[in-house]
Amino acid sequence: MTARIMTKRTLTDATVTGRRELAHHAWLIELEVELEAPVRAGQFAMVHPLEAGTLLPRPFSVLDHRDGRLKLYVKEVGAGSRALAHTPLGERVQVFAPLGRSFPIEEFRGRPVVLVAGGVGLVPLWKLRSELLASGEEVPHSLFGARTIEELPGELLEGWRIHLEEAPPSAPSGEGSSTMSAGGGLPTAPTGSGLPTAPAGGEVEVGLVTLHLDEILREQPDAVLALCGPDAMMKAAARIGRQRGVQVWVCLEEQMACGAGVCRSCTIPAAGGRTMKTVCQDGPVFSLDEIDYV
Ligand SMILES: Cc1cc2nc3c(=O)[nH]c(=O)nc-3n(C[C@H](O)[C@H](O)[C@H](O)COP(=O)(O)OP(=O)(O)OC[C@H]3O[C@@H](n4cnc5c(N)ncnc54)[C@H](O)[C@@H]3O)c2cc1C
Ligand code: FES
Repeated sequence: MTARIMTKRTLTDATVTGRRELAHHAWLIELEVELEAPVRAGQFAMVHPLEAGTLLPRPFSVLDHRDGRLKLYVKEVGAGSRALAHTPLGERVQVFAPLGRSFPIEEFRGRPVVLVAGGVGLVPLWKLRSELLASGEEVPHSLFGARTIEELPGELLEGWRIHLEEAPPSAPSGEGSSTMSAGGGLPTAPTGSGLPTAPAGGEVEVGLVTLHLDEILREQPDAVLALCGPDAMMKAAARIGRQRGVQVWVCLEEQMACGAGVCRSCTIPAAGGRTMKTVCQDGPVFSLDEIDYV
């Protein structure tokens, strides 16, 4: 297995240069910041809005980083994420990045990569997809699951197959029973929100994101399966991957205080259960064989 080398980390101030709501209470945030190393898919940043009133920074996966611009996709869930999402343009935040181990993209070369994302788990897999496509690799299946149409960050979902747990008001109901074109059968935006939803022409299906996964993996026995999202979704998908005998990689979330392997607040059991691994430093990307996960 290829060693995944950690990159040089930078602790610095950054300026907020862009913020746009892409889905309900979820924001694309752009920061101007110079980092000493490139950011790879799966790596994250500890970000601390200086006016937040929270003692500790918060971890966010990096969506994109080029030309001194760092993009994050931030869902508001509490004080830290809300403060970051609402930091006015021109204000400064503190950034510590890039952190953690990335997806081992070299190991994926020449193999069909199947992505399964949910919620803000889209972020590292969006970056992984972009990196793979940019280097001429195949990504035959990119599946994104959300509960409702309001949770779809439309412009990030081009090329993704969308699974909604709840049928939108205008769509026929019944899990797994309906497929519609996002430009046609679905409302273009939830009432009154003014937000974009699914990408035009993309396919949307009502049903869990794992609905067709077993079938997909049966047809692609040499696939690599990469997962990031809510725990229940990842575990369900990881079990399917394991049963089909494909290589499974998960990108995990834990509550983090330091992001650098010092405080031990993010430990999880390693495979066999006798030792522990830190999600911030040993992960957040793990092969299923490394950890005691499913
Ligand atoms: C490696 C990593 C990458 C992440 N990437 C993103 C991202 O790209 N976009 C994004 O919006 N969020 C991401 N998160 C989650 C984000 O860090 C948390 O939502 C944020 O720290 C919450 O802080 P808060 O002050 O807003 O809420 P808090 O008040 O701290 O928490 C609000 C609620 O969320 C729960 N919670 C907080 N952090 C986590 C967590 N890590 N896992 C599960 N539950 C949690 C708390 O228990 C509480 O119930 C990532 C987390 C990790 C560890
Ligand atoms: S967050 Fe401190 S060790 Fe992982």
